[in-house]
Amino acid sequence: MSQRTEGNEYGMQFDLCIAGATVVDGSGGPSFIADVGIAGGRIAAVGELSGVPSRERCDAAGRVLAPGFIDVHTHDDRALLMPGAMAAKLSQGVTTVVTGNCGLSLAPGGIRGAIPPPLDLIATPEWLRFPNFRDYLEALQSTGIAVNAACLVGHLTLRANVMDDLERAATPAECDAMRALLAEALEAGALGMSTGTFYPPARHADIDEIVAVGEPLRAYGALYATHMRNEAEKIVDALDETFEIGRRLGVRVLISHHKLAGIANHGRSVETLRRIAAAMNEQPVSLDCYPYNASSTVLRPEFVARASSVLVSWSGPYPQHVGRTLAEISRDMGCDELEAAARLMPAGAIYFMMDESDVRRILTFPKTMIGSDGMPHDEHPHPRLWGTFPRVLGHYARDERLFSLETAVHKMSGLAAEELALPGRGRIEPGFAADLVLFDPADVSDRATFAEPRARSAGVERVWVNGQLAFADGELRHTRAGQVVKRH
Ligand code: ZN
Ligand code: CU
Repeated sequence: MSQRTEGNEYGMQFDLCIAGATVVDGSGGPSFIADVGIAGGRIAAVGELSGVPSRERCDAAGRVLAPGFIDVHTHDDRALLMPGAMAAKLSQGVTTVVTGNCGLSLAPGGIRGAIPPPLDLIATPEWLRFPNFRDYLEALQSTGIAVNAACLVGHLTLRANVMDDLERAATPAECDAMRALLAEALEAGALGMSTGTFYPPARHADIDEIVAVGEPLRAYGALYATHMRNEAEKIVDALDETFEIGRRLGVRVLISHHKLAGIANHGRSVETLRRIAAAMNEQPVSLDCYPYNASSTVLRPEFVARASSVLVSWSGPYPQHVGRTLAEISRDMGCDELEAAARLMPAGAIYFMMDESDVRRILTFPKTMIGSDGMPHDEHPHPRLWGTFPRVLGHYARDERLFSLETAVHKMSGLAAEELALPGRGRIEPGFAADLVLFDPADVSDRATFAEPRARSAGVERVWVNGQLAFADGELRHTRAGQVVKRH
């Protein structure tokens, strides 16, 4: 007994020791077998730790232990506050989400008039209850959240707070008002600002408006994330605009869910990735991607033409058509697809419009992070909501051998924490937060499909958030272990 204590060079006791796991530490380096000791919500030690007393032990032989995954592109702003809704993410091993993407955030909530689509993907009148961004972050903290959250402010939300008419560029006075709201949010701890100039109500914002509004980002070392103006024929112009915004603002830009839409653009990821790599030599640029060749957003007739097939994910007036294709629905309605789309609105849809080879090329690009872009409030959601992370591990890394397991984990943890400056997360190293996932490398896989989008992934056995067991044996456990990750 005394020998054991002497042998305890750490001079401590662990709350939990995860023993004998294959550790994939998030750095991208090779895996190794080790014990991981956890104390006070942090990783206390990594190594041969059988001599250290621990209140609890978890035998992890034959299993992979990785840093909890960071979902860099989510629309979980509201889901974080809804009991049980984060099961979609915890069941995949996700322990941190970035919210407020594509120009859409729940706060600040002083929206004038009706909620403009696509803000209705996350917001309802009752949920616009946070006057300031600080109120929203405080609500996350006081309600308790199941995973960690880093929160962007949406530019469309800012527009809808200060403008009566979104179908035009903002006036200088409106830019001043938006800038003040952004500065307030950054002061409260927001990660940065997102735009969605792809979408009609934000399309009227030109580069000068975005630069005028985004001016406070630089002082906070904050991030500019964008669902770019164009992901099809004019994607190169959109990339150039994004890089220019980054240079003028003096901040890191994050290209959200990089993709090439429409048959005419299939294969062009060769060109876009070359351009992104070149820009990375000049300025800080990040990008993310989801591992599917279909996209999902609001249903609009003008988005229908470039897809080979469209699946309805929700519909206000026609809930009975949810989960069916627009082709089937239009046949039943006796009209064409554009007319059917117009009748179904407000609605959401899944668009099959990408090329698998582009998806693979973008996923494989070394700096590409993984973001699910899951739509938590869709009735029949895109399967990426429940399947993204196990799909990268199982389908793309293990089965298709696009890259190693270590690289897959790095993209989903260490790389994301570095690029987004989330200090103390994304690695299995002493001192880092004990955000961890334990999975069976032979079994891990996505089960959610376009037909059965809520099927839970296989192989994810245990998930810890800040040292608390948050998911085990297919069930949620501790549901308030998450923290608001604030920009420092
Ligand atoms: Zn988007
Ligand atoms: Cu998005």
